[in-house]
Amino acid sequence: MTRTTFPRSAPKLAPSILSADFSRLGEAVREAEQAGADWIHVDVMDGHYVPNLAFGPKMVADLRRATRLPLDVHLMTLRPDLWLDHYAGAGATYLTIHVETVPAVAATLAAIRAKGMRAGVTCHPETPLERMLDHVADVDLALVMSVRPGFGGQSLLPGSLERIAAARRALDERGSRAELEVDGGVKPENVRAVWEAGASAIVAGSAVYLDPDGVTAAIAKFRSALGAA
Ligand code: DX5
Ligand code: ZN
Repeated sequence: MTRTTFPRSAPKLAPSILSADFSRLGEAVREAEQAGADWIHVDVMDGHYVPNLAFGPKMVADLRRATRLPLDVHLMTLRPDLWLDHYAGAGATYLTIHVETVPAVAATLAAIRAKGMRAGVTCHPETPLERMLDHVADVDLALVMSVRPGFGGQSLLPGSLERIAAARRALDERGSRAELEVDGGVKPENVRAVWEAGASAIVAGSAVYLDPDGVTAAIAKFRSALGAA
């Protein structure tokens, strides 16, 4: 049987611990690491920018000691620019901000890099994509949100594949080598379409941590859907 090989290398998998059992997060992270996850996605929420609360710098610092994987920290908070030193000190690898939450996006992204972290930019799914794409030359990661931020377990919003493809075109046209990450509603059933639309890194929360077969089996389902051995 012949099989079409998609030209780009398989995307990185970043399990989101938002759907893990918070009473045993160290174990949840180690399980994902052993199963071959590439990054750990840490969602920070302040109850203002999004209607939920989760995590903060101490959690990032504690996770930093629990795994060797890069910590992909996604800030869904107002004024994350006031907290950069805390996340740098905690050991965040990537620090991603929403364009809606800071008075000066470019300056905040530059400050993230100056503090030794990799800078990521994203926006709400209802915000024109151009508001984040304006910054792709100055980031290490561009994140396309495929659900409304705030909760795990939602479905991929209609139009997400088109937004991913538009972001991929913008990155390629502007010569950016930034990761193109997709967050929200990604499952083994749709991960290949998300990859083919242009993603290089994929967040999965509920599909990893709430799979009744367990984390290791869930990650294997993603790899198999992506055609990897
Ligand atoms: C949603 C968060 C996501 C969430 C994804 O606001 O940014 O990272 O954990 O969860 P799933 O994969 O269940 O949609
Ligand atoms: Zn997230």
